[in-house]
Amino acid sequence: MIYLDNGATSFPKPPRVSAAVWHCLRHYAGNAGRGAHKMSVFAAEKIWETRSLLASLFHIENPEVIVFTQNCTEGLNLGIKGILRPGDDVVISDMEHNSVYRPCIALAEKGVRTLFAEADDDGTVSPEAILKSVTPRTRMVCLQHASNVGGGINPIREIGKALHEKGILFMVDAAQTAGCVDIDVMRDYIDILAFPGHKGLLGPQGTGGLYVREGIDIHPLREGGTGSSSESPFMPDFLPDRLESGTLNLPGIVGLLEGVRFVLHHGAENIGRHERNLSMRFAENIKHLPGVRILGPQEGMQRTGVISLAVAKRDAGEIADILNRRYGIAVRSGLHCAPLAAEKFGVLKTGSVRFSPGVFTSAREMDYAFRSMREILS
Ligand code: ALA
Repeated sequence: MIYLDNGATSFPKPPRVSAAVWHCLRHYAGNAGRGAHKMSVFAAEKIWETRSLLASLFHIENPEVIVFTQNCTEGLNLGIKGILRPGDDVVISDMEHNSVYRPCIALAEKGVRTLFAEADDDGTVSPEAILKSVTPRTRMVCLQHASNVGGGINPIREIGKALHEKGILFMVDAAQTAGCVDIDVMRDYIDILAFPGHKGLLGPQGTGGLYVREGIDIHPLREGGTGSSSESPFMPDFLPDRLESGTLNLPGIVGLLEGVRFVLHHGAENIGRHERNLSMRFAENIKHLPGVRILGPQEGMQRTGVISLAVAKRDAGEIADILNRRYGIAVRSGLHCAPLAAEKFGVLKTGSVRFSPGVFTSAREMDYAFRSMREILS
């Protein structure tokens, strides 16, 4: 199978990732922070090492402000529901994934209003569009770093700076960029960063995390044992324990450790460049096929490696099915859990076919994908 669905989850993983998961389960899968014995202590050390490497990757000074979650969606829910209160406004873009859109809309019944900043036709959002939507009640702006449909990268540094000057919290959804675009929470004025572990960071599914700038209190969405302050009926007031109750996913986290090590070794920018070059090569060929429209920015520098196509008079699901069955190519089709983006690009009815190369994808595979599309559309 030629796997071009890295936007959904990365595959394959670096060999050290699966080796680390296996080794953990076989040799030391104790419960971190819950015992003084060797296995529990070793588990805690591995978790700390993972937090520390994630901190280096995102230029975070103190690894304790990184909380492990089961995916990016959980981190986004924590940030959105743990911060916003009745009477607050939250600004999101009209391109957001359901992982941001739905939690914000769910807060309407608690008196939180969601306002939409309008993206440009290529699906990217300007600082001006964000500022236009801000009201005196805006407590937070929550924005995707890049679209999982159009691939356009938002100018988060400029947006973050403008919001910082206004004292508005800035939460970034790095679902499509962690591991393939350089992210620096200080330089980019990010207050809260949600990221998946199983996409660009190359870890196993069931991993993800949330960075919370020191001084911001996120109310926990879940209470339980933390292995700390156990005499208190209340959740600890310090991170990561405040937001990390229950046993952590140690096998997943040690796999993530190796994924992050791989990213640090090769460089997120280099990985992103590789993926972008592949999709631009594909785009250069495919744009000449009749009826094909490439969604998102047309210039390579403004985008990640995901590339979605609208195909006139054809259903995206049918194309994806033929790619899978006849050509052995895995892509994603439909709305990509992002109906707002589909609406923006005018593909709400037909959906789009998304090709997302990863760090291990070759030019040969992308060329094969192009030839397969040419045959299907001929
Ligand atoms: N949000 C993921 C995607 O875009 C799963 O496919």
